Amino acid sequence: MKINGAEYKTIWFNEEKQVVKIIDQTKLPHQFIVKDLNSVKDAINAIKVMEVRGAPLIGATAAYGIVLAIHENNSQEFINKSAEELIQSRPTAINLKWAVDRMMKKLSGINSHQILDIALNEAKEICNEDEKYCENIGINGLKIIEEIYNNKKDTVNILTHCNAGWLATINWGTATSPIYHAHKKGIPVHVWVDETRPRNQGANLTSYELNEEEIPNTIIADNTGGILMQRNEVDICIVGTDRTLSNGDVCNKIGTYLKALAAHDNNVPFYVALPSSTIDWEIKDAKDIPIEERNSEELSHVEGIDESNQIKKVLIYPIKSKAMNLAFDVTPAKYVTGLITEKGITEASFDGLKKLFK
Ligand code: MRU
Repeated sequence: MKINGAEYKTIWFNEEKQVVKIIDQTKLPHQFIVKDLNSVKDAINAIKVMEVRGAPLIGATAAYGIVLAIHENNSQEFINKSAEELIQSRPTAINLKWAVDRMMKKLSGINSHQILDIALNEAKEICNEDEKYCENIGINGLKIIEEIYNNKKDTVNILTHCNAGWLATINWGTATSPIYHAHKKGIPVHVWVDETRPRNQGANLTSYELNEEEIPNTIIADNTGGILMQRNEVDICIVGTDRTLSNGDVCNKIGTYLKALAAHDNNVPFYVALPSSTIDWEIKDAKDIPIEERNSEELSHVEGIDESNQIKKVLIYPIKSKAMNLAFDVTPAKYVTGLITEKGITEASFDGLKKLFK
């Protein structure tokens, strides 16, 4: 997708310098900075501080993290330790473990001469596959938007939460891919972008990338979706997910659940877009999903740019107040109209997912 008219992906390997390149998402939308990851420690830190974020992208970064680890020290002990630290760097998105496990399986029994090349190829393959899957999610989800447009014959209003856009993947995004495909086909779309406090991924990232692709969008405070749905100003909600259980329960950015409840109450279709790398076939009960709790400073302080274009952080809460920052919630499958995957659209249930993937 585009930034300032130039095509970009969110992560790539620079062969000449033997480093991993990322777009530092903590600086967007105010500064566009491409950063080098030189070591597995850099990769772990980039995931933790959210220079890279979004389930598929942190999976891809972890895969490249294994490559960087091997580059530093190809002893089995160091690779195993690095794999464990990468998996632990953020707890909720299953893509992280999925990518590290896939890398370790590929590397098992490989001798030290070949290991770096094989790891690099596999990390690239994870990225290529994610890009293809996200494109297919778009092709499949386009049908839903097209149907709404054919009935309505007017602009389709789509509400999304957080950033499940191309910045959260390698390219296309998950929730945004059907939107990009609809726009390319000439279907008029407008996106209601939930701001997504506390880190504002909607305002800072989703709105930014939609602007770059010239898709009309409006940022709304997180609590605005309900009244818009009551006023018939939302035709469909499409969100992403960090972990979808095999029973169809969807874990995603905090606030997704409340949006699904409002959609249910107002008969607004609520779709979740995901590649198969986000399905957790192991955990059976949503209560067992590890929900990340981040530093409360993400709530009590906000960042923006000052008059001299410098990024500045300011305190907005009473200095003595405590704050709590749960990063994800779970939307029960009964509130999900359907799952848009690379293999097609299915109901949010074990049978639905099994038909497509097992
Ligand atoms: O905390 P973040 O920004 O990593 O959370 C991202 C989300 O919640 C996305 O909706 C999810 O990862 C899907 S990305 C295609």
